[in-house]
Formats: sequence, structure tokens, C-alpha cells
Amino acid sequence: MKSLDHSHRSQFPIPFFGLALVLLVFLASPTRSCTEQEKSSLLQLLAGLSHDGDLTASWRSNTDCCRWEGINCSPNRMVTDVVLASRGLEGSISPFLGNLTSLLRLDLSHNLLSGGLPLELLQSSSILVLDVSFNRLTGGLSELPSSTPARPLQVLNISSNLFTGRFPSTIWEVMKSLVALNASTNSFTGQMPTMSCVSAPSFAVLELSFNKFSGNIPPGLSNCSMLKLLSVGNNHLSGTLPDELFKVTTLEHLSLPFNWLEGELKGIIKLTNLVTLDLGKNEFRGNIPETIGELKKLEELLLDHNSMSGELPSALSNCTNLVTLDLKVNHFNGEFTKINFLSLPNLKILDIFSNDFTGTITESIYSCSKLTALRLSFNHFHGQLSEKIGNLKSLSFLSLVNLSLTNITRTLQILGSSRSLTTIFIGFNFIHETMPEDDNIGGFENLQALSMNYCSLSGTLPGWLSKLTRLKMLFLQSNQLTGPIPDWISSLNLLFYLDISNNSFTGEIPTALMEMPMLKSDKTAPKIFSELPLYFFHSICRIPQTWCFSKSAQSRHQ
Ligand SMILES: *[C@@H]1O[C@H](CO)[C@@H](O)[C@H](O)[C@H]1NC(C)=O
Ligand SMILES: *[C@@H]1O[C@H](CO)[C@@H](O)[C@H](O)[C@H]1NC(C)=O
Ligand SMILES: *[C@@H]1O[C@H](CO)[C@@H](O)[C@H](O)[C@H]1NC(C)=O
Ligand SMILES: *[C@@H]1O[C@H](CO)[C@@H](O)[C@H](O)[C@H]1NC(C)=O
Ligand SMILES: *[C@@H]1O[C@H](CO)[C@@H](O)[C@H](O)[C@H]1NC(C)=O
Ligand SMILES: *[C@@H]1O[C@H](CO)[C@@H](O)[C@H](O)[C@H]1NC(C)=O
Ligand SMILES: *[C@@H]1O[C@H](CO)[C@@H](O)[C@H](O)[C@H]1NC(C)=O
Ligand SMILES: *[C@@H]1O[C@H](CO)[C@@H](O)[C@H](O)[C@H]1NC(C)=O
Repeated sequence: MKSLDHSHRSQFPIPFFGLALVLLVFLASPTRSCTEQEKSSLLQLLAGLSHDGDLTASWRSNTDCCRWEGINCSPNRMVTDVVLASRGLEGSISPFLGNLTSLLRLDLSHNLLSGGLPLELLQSSSILVLDVSFNRLTGGLSELPSSTPARPLQVLNISSNLFTGRFPSTIWEVMKSLVALNASTNSFTGQMPTMSCVSAPSFAVLELSFNKFSGNIPPGLSNCSMLKLLSVGNNHLSGTLPDELFKVTTLEHLSLPFNWLEGELKGIIKLTNLVTLDLGKNEFRGNIPETIGELKKLEELLLDHNSMSGELPSALSNCTNLVTLDLKVNHFNGEFTKINFLSLPNLKILDIFSNDFTGTITESIYSCSKLTALRLSFNHFHGQLSEKIGNLKSLSFLSLVNLSLTNITRTLQILGSSRSLTTIFIGFNFIHETMPEDDNIGGFENLQALSMNYCSLSGTLPGWLSKLTRLKMLFLQSNQLTGPIPDWISSLNLLFYLDISNNSFTGEIPTALMEMPMLKSDKTAPKIFSELPLYFFHSICRIPQTWCFSKSAQSRHQ
């Protein structure tokens, strides 16, 4: 510490009394402190708080408010920033903040504020960034008086609150500088706000997901020549995508999952700057057009849970930046081998669960060395798993349910050597084969979930399972396994979900089963599982969706 002081002094050789003099002048000058009016506006905020996160310690009325915690001022001592995010503030937002005539940024995000958003803040003639996200604000946003002159607001984030009612259309007419509006995760109703990018030409980000907007996507988008992100997922939108949308070629992120949208994808192809396209959980039909290959920047393509069909175009291989390809729960068909995965080296997630693909599991998949999740379940493939799956050194989740696979011994030998795998679902295969015994099976060093259910396997509960010490979930139901339930089952310290129902086990239910650490502990086992009976459990889909691998995943909107 001493040497640090020393170096400071030698770097700034200001005589001590000189510094004191400077400070004295600085403090003495009346223009060097914030104005009483600014101070009283801030104190009004404090007065409205029932829990102020210790602000009172710093916000003392006899001190310069420019030095208060969370406050920044301009050189001429006007308050420019009020940044009070994540301070546990409770109470309401004072309309007096609207009197801070030089305020540029107001950040009250991540608090517990309630009541409404004062109109005075939306009408402020200085605020550029207003962020009240992650609070408990309620009520609606009022329309601004039509006489309101243009306002400078650029970023409005009211997301993750409890706002209701229709979104005021006058916002667009008044906020001519608006760049980003984030109103996600509220309960807004009525028509999705009709944008007028004619009056707000810099508008770039519209985030409205997780609300209750309904009706069609309104026209008027085509004039948004700067729009980069449109996100209206998890609403009640219906109808087709308007042609105007396809003129917004600046769009990089189009995210509309979980709505009732319908139609075909043809027009989308004009949006050549798309990085993210998420149209999952809608009612889209038709195929993926060959022109998809023109979306060269595409990284995320999510079309899951629609009614799409047809063969995948080989041009999909031209989308060489793809990281996520999610086509699950559709009616896509044809030979999967048409896609050349050699040209998709960045792919991390490939999910084609529940489609009608035929042919063999294309070998080129094994060249996607970054794959972390591969789900091919419930298709009509034939042929076997290749040893080359060992090339996928990052693969964590593998689901190959109901693919007519045979030779469970060989399959487990191949998969056992993967150190990255945490989840293996291979049920509904290997029908009437025999559960392999210890000798040949091992590895699975990081395996946490394993399903080999509905295989009609004969044999017993094999000892090699006892070595899978990281196992948390084991599904072996609906086989024809016999013999006793071995005592070693209790040595699986982390196991909290076990389904061995509908087998032919004999003997008593071992007391060891009652000793299993995770089943005994209330604290460690996730709540959802603690209520479930250990046996007689058939519906896998009652547990979280990622684990779910039956067709009933198709049930939606509930
Ligand atoms: C400050 O704002 C409040 C509420 O918006 C208003 O009633 C009051 O007149 C304003 N005070 C001054 C000094 O401007
Ligand atoms: C609020 O939204 C804006 C614009 O979308 C974003 O820049 C900002 O990070 C968000 N604030 C929080 C706390 O997430
Ligand atoms: C919108 O705000 C939420 C916080 O509620 C944030 O997570 C999200 O990233 C924001 N969206 C955009 C596009 O900035
Ligand atoms: C958008 O701009 C075009 C001209 O480029 C104009 O004809 C049209 O009326 C504008 N649309 C809206 C909704 O203002
Ligand atoms: C895909 O790439 C191939 C060759 O790289 C090219 O011949 C073909 O026209 C491309 N297709 C599309 C739709 O971009
Ligand atoms: C498994 O696949 C076969 C053939 O593709 C199909 O007939 C059967 O219904 C599937 N089983 C389940 C449970 O979906
Ligand atoms: C299954 O694979 C093993 C090699 O792991 C082989 O020895 C055995 O013959 C195969 N069984 C059948 C029925 O093909
Ligand atoms: C019980 O398991 C057999 C296969 O061993 C299967 O055919 C049958 O459908 C299963 N019963 C139930 C109720 O799941």
C-alpha cells in the first residue's frame, strides 16, 4: 500500500494545500452543485419507495446530488443518469423524475417496483434510454396527447412487468428517434402494435414476445428500412406472414414461435440477411424451398412443431453457418442422405424428432464434430449406428428412439466409449434381443440419463449398470427382464428417477431401494420427481420436455 501511495504522489506532484484550495473553490461555487429542483425531484423518487436499498445513506439533502449513488451529472451539474438497477427497490416510480430536464438515461431495471409507469417519463423531452424491465409495474400505457411534440427517446424497455391492455399507437408518432422497443413478457392484448417506421426511421428492434397480442401481423413493416430484430413469439398471432415483411431485407432475427401463423415459407427467402429464423410451433405448411440456400448467414433455423412436409432441399447444405437445425414434429420425408453435412461444420444441434424421413442415417452427420445434441428419434430409418459416432467428441445428448436399430450389444459398445455423452435414449429398438451382460459393456463415464425401454429385452438387470455412478435417470420399463432387483441399485448415489415397471422381476422389492440417497433426500431431488411413484410410471411426457420422447410431444398450446 505504501509504495502505491508513493508512486501516486510522484505521478501527481500537486502540493497538498493546492489541492485543498481547488476543492474549496469547487465546493464553494453555487453553480458547482446540482440545483435544488433537481435534488427535490430525486428526493421525490426516494419518498415514493417503501424499500430504498439503503439509498438514504447516500442521498442526503444537504449534499450535492451529483455525488449520490447511482447519479451522474453533466459538467454543468445537471442530472444525466439515474442508474438504480438491481437494488431491491420497492414502491412506485415518481412522476417527478420527469422534471429532470437533462436526464438521458433512467435505469430502474431488476427491482420490485409496482404501480404504473408515469406518463411524464414517456413524455420527457430529454430521456434517451428508459429501462424499467424486471419489475412489477401494472396497468396500461396511456396514449400520449396528440399535441405532444417529437420526443428523443431511443430505447424503451418495459419488458418483464405486469402491463396489460392495448399498446398505445401514438408512441410511434411521438417517438421519432425510437431505435428499440422491448415490451416482452407482459400481458398486452389486442392487435400487435402497428409500426410506423415512416415517423421513426431508425427503428431497429421490436421485441414483443410473451404477451397476448392477437390478429394478423399488421402491414406497415415494409418502411422499416433499419429493422434488424422482430420478435413476437408466444402470442396469439394468426394468419399468414404479410408480403411486406419480406421487403424488410435488413432483418437479421425473425422470431415468431408459438403462435397460430400459417402459410408457406417461400417469401422468407428474400430476407438474405437472416441469422435467426424461428417459426416453430405454428401452423406452417409446404416444404423448405430450394432457395433456402441463399440465406448464407443463417445460423438458427427452427421450424419445429408445424405441418411442413416434402423432402429437404439439398441446397440446405449451402447454409454453411448453420448452428441449430430444428425440424422436429413435422411431416418431412424422403431420404435424409440428401443433405451433405460435410458442408455444415458449425452444426451443434440437429433435431429431426418425429418426421417421416427414410433411408439410412447419413454417414456425413459424423463429420459435424461440434454437435452437442443429436435427435433422430421416431423416423423411418433403417440401418445401424456407425462407430463413427465416436468422432462427435462434444456430443452430449443422443436420442435414437424407434429407428429399428438392432444388436443392442454392439450399440452399447459403440456408445460406451464416448466420454461426452450425458443422455442416451435408445428405447423402442432391439425388439426381443437379450440385455447384454457385464463382460463387454463399460465406459459411459458421464452418463446421466439412459433409456432402453419398450425393447422387450430378455435377461436380467445387468451388473454393468452399477458402474454408471453419475446416472440420475434410468428408464427400463416394458422389457421382459427377470430375476431379482439387485441390491447394488442403491449404490447409484445420484439416481432419482427409476422406471422398471412392466417387466418380470421376481422376489421382493429390496429394502436397498428405500435407502437410495436421492430418493430419501427432500432437498436434492427436484420437486417434480419427488411426488412420482417409483414404479408403474408410463407417461414419460409428464417430465420436462427435453426428456420427452413420445409422440404426445405434439400436443401444444397448453
Ligand atoms: C414536477 O413534476 C410534478 C409531477 O409531474 C409536477 O406536478 C410539478 O409541478 C413539477 N414541479 C416542478 C417544479 O416543475
Ligand atoms: C432492455 O431492452 C434493451 C433493448 O432491447 C436492451 O438493450 C437492454 O439490455 C434490456 N435491459 C435488460 C435489463 O435486459
Ligand atoms: C428484452 O428484454 C429482456 C429482459 O426482459 C431481455 O432478456 C432481452 O434480451 C431483451 N431483448 C432484446 C431484443 O434486447
Ligand atoms: C411506405 O413507403 C411507401 C413508399 O416507399 C409509401 O408508398 C407507403 O405509403 C408507406 N407505407 C406506410 C404504411 O406509410
Ligand atoms: C448451392 O451451392 C451450389 C454449389 O456450391 C450451387 O451450385 C447452388 O446453386 C447453390 N444453391 C443455392 C440455392 O444457393
Ligand atoms: C415406431 O416406428 C414404427 C415404424 O416406423 C411405427 O409403426 C410405430 O408406430 C412406431 N412406434 C411408436 C411408439 O411410435
Ligand atoms: C452384435 O455385435 C457383436 C459385436 O459387438 C457381434 O459379435 C455379434 O455377432 C452381433 N450380433 C448379431 C446378432 O449380429
Ligand atoms: C409391457 O411391455 C411389453 C413389452 O415387453 C409391451 O408390449 C406392452 O405394451 C407393455 N405394456 C404396457 C402397459 O406398457
